[in-house]
Amino acid sequence: MNINIENLTKSYGGQRAVDNISFKVNTGEILGFLGPNGAGKTTTMKMITQFIELEEGDIRINGSSIKSGFDKKHIGYLPEHNPLYTDMAVMDYLGFCAGLQGVPKSQIKERAVQMVKLCGLDVEKHKKINELSKGYRQRVGLAQAMIHDPEILILDEPTTGLDPNQIVEIRELIKKMGRQKTVILSTHILPEVEATCDRILIINKGKIVADGTASTLRKQAEGQQILQVKIEGTESNLIADGLRALGDVKEVTIKDMNTNRFEIQSMPEAKTNTSIFNLCVQKNWILTEMIPYETKLEDIFRDLTVN
Ligand SMILES: Nc1ncnc2c1ncn2[C@@H]1O[C@H](COP(=O)(O)OP(=O)(O)O)[C@@H](O)[C@H]1O
Ligand SMILES: [Mg+2]
Repeated sequence: MNINIENLTKSYGGQRAVDNISFKVNTGEILGFLGPNGAGKTTTMKMITQFIELEEGDIRINGSSIKSGFDKKHIGYLPEHNPLYTDMAVMDYLGFCAGLQGVPKSQIKERAVQMVKLCGLDVEKHKKINELSKGYRQRVGLAQAMIHDPEILILDEPTTGLDPNQIVEIRELIKKMGRQKTVILSTHILPEVEATCDRILIINKGKIVADGTASTLRKQAEGQQILQVKIEGTESNLIADGLRALGDVKEVTIKDMNTNRFEIQSMPEAKTNTSIFNLCVQKNWILTEMIPYETKLEDIFRDLTVN
């Protein structure tokens, strides 16, 4: 099922929590919704899952507006704080959720068993939820979201509270599910989106500030080459002056006066490797390191969301 978000807006008081955003997600796609706290991720997800009403704009699923009564059973939702009935045992809770989601009575037990296996809850399945660790509760939340085999999965910060091993397992699980389903997950953790998502949408202050794959976002930011170099032969100040005088060099920063390390930023679209090398040969300096600085997703994220 594809989801089409069109000019979606939601305000709280005078504040626009979601400010005129539009995007599309297709079947088989895992879309990562990335943004700092308060960016509007949860609010957007609540509108898609119809927990809160739309204010302006529309959400179309397979072409039809959710305003005209979209059947919620196609959607599985893991809410941000993962509310659970903690007095219930895992199997009972999952059975209860399956019933609420309209799974036929004859299939409820089987579905609960499948989910318990899929989410790695087999050992814990007879325990009460309040006896489980946070990571296992999160798995119960995921199992609950998928119990009725929905075509759309909306997961709000799915790996919160998990340990590193669990994070890897849950990511694999989401990826596996994502092959047949339409998945939107939110996170403020960068490696998360890179590891799990096909596409990344960065949201800040209610607005979309970037939309692309990890590599296209990186390419956008890589218009400018940054090199880290180490040059020996004379004082760092003299070397820095020499480097600054080269064409196509925009900025030279001395990173370490003692070891003569520099960071060299090129003019947009220019490369300075050859001219730096030639300068060293000409001056009889020794170039011992030249490392291209790889733009990290962290840098892009900070660039787009810090202001
Ligand atoms: N029920 C609410 N009442 C008032 N303000 C809210 C409410 N829910 C969210 N907000 C505000 O809307 C903004 C976006 O929140 P949210 O969607 O939860 O962001 P995120 O999930 O990206 O952290 C925040 O500034 C938040 O304080
Ligand atoms: Mg949130």
